[in-house]
Amino acid sequence: MSRVRLAARALRLALNKAHADPTADYDAASGDYDAFFSPVMGRHSIAALDAVPVAPGDTVVELACGTGHLTEEIVRRLNGRGAVHAVDKSPGMLRVAKEKVLPHASAALHIELSEGDMDAFVQAQPSASADLVVVGWAICYTKPTRLLAEIERVLRPGGRVVVIETRADAHRALTESLERIFADDPSLLTGLIRVTLPKDAATVARWFVKAGLAVDVQREGAQTIPAHTPEDAVEWVQRSGAAAGFKTAVDSAREQLVLDRIAAGLGEILAQQGVLDIQHTFVVVAGTKPVNSTASTAVRRRSGDEEASVV
Ligand SMILES: C[S@@+](CC[C@H](N)C(=O)[O-])C[C@H]1O[C@@H](n2cnc3c(N)ncnc32)[C@H](O)[C@@H]1O
Repeated sequence: MSRVRLAARALRLALNKAHADPTADYDAASGDYDAFFSPVMGRHSIAALDAVPVAPGDTVVELACGTGHLTEEIVRRLNGRGAVHAVDKSPGMLRVAKEKVLPHASAALHIELSEGDMDAFVQAQPSASADLVVVGWAICYTKPTRLLAEIERVLRPGGRVVVIETRADAHRALTESLERIFADDPSLLTGLIRVTLPKDAATVARWFVKAGLAVDVQREGAQTIPAHTPEDAVEWVQRSGAAAGFKTAVDSAREQLVLDRIAAGLGEILAQQGVLDIQHTFVVVAGTKPVNSTASTAVRRRSGDEEASVV
């Protein structure tokens, strides 16, 4: 019965367009992101970049650059020549990225970090202007096939795109615990976290194909988060930004109550299984804009094979 009440509550919030915006949570996490997320998941981001060539002189577009973890590596690989056009919606995350990356700019290496929405940003880029587009851990915040169709337009023929994204089954113990808490008391849920997390790499590969991109690489990955106690786990997901949107999804007056209940739920798992093994599963897909691409972007924009995961 409580699941029915939760579904009714979610429906009411959806009808009222009560969507949790992750930007405030990313702003809050920006000072910690490079101490929590980047050291754990960042090596997988760098490995994803290995799936595409970055050569001196290239023009690279990076969508949702965050604190610039990947941007810094792109700049290193450009080796002093080329251009980076990056965007992020969170002023806090962007501030960290600017401090890290802008000192590398020169007459031969143009670096521009803009604050804004990635959909609007990519739409403003000229057609056939980029050698590479990179989207790290952020395609979930858009309509993926629409964004990829726009990326296809922006890429020059033969240009490449790489996406790394969290899988829908990531942090299962945490998300199941949260679902139980909301099911017990649906009034705790005040906004919906709308993210399009893919079920698997094949899902993202299908998004690529619908956008007119050829798929070169598709693979799955998993990383155990560094949490041996329930309190560690709650701290990691909060401070790494992995729970972005949580603050606006939960009744702010009772946020601590929800966190305590999550920790209690994880404590039960720890007592039963003797270990907390919380996996951050993810996918990597890289592709190419075909040299003789003729398909119409407008037609592809209508495609809708997107697996929305809404908390
Ligand atoms: C998990 S972080 C990833 C940051 C970076 N790409 C990395 O690999 O570390 C997600 C980022 O997406 C940004 N973001 C979310 N929605 C966005 C949007 N619609 N437009 C631009 N940035 C967005 C957030 O502000 C955050 O910095």
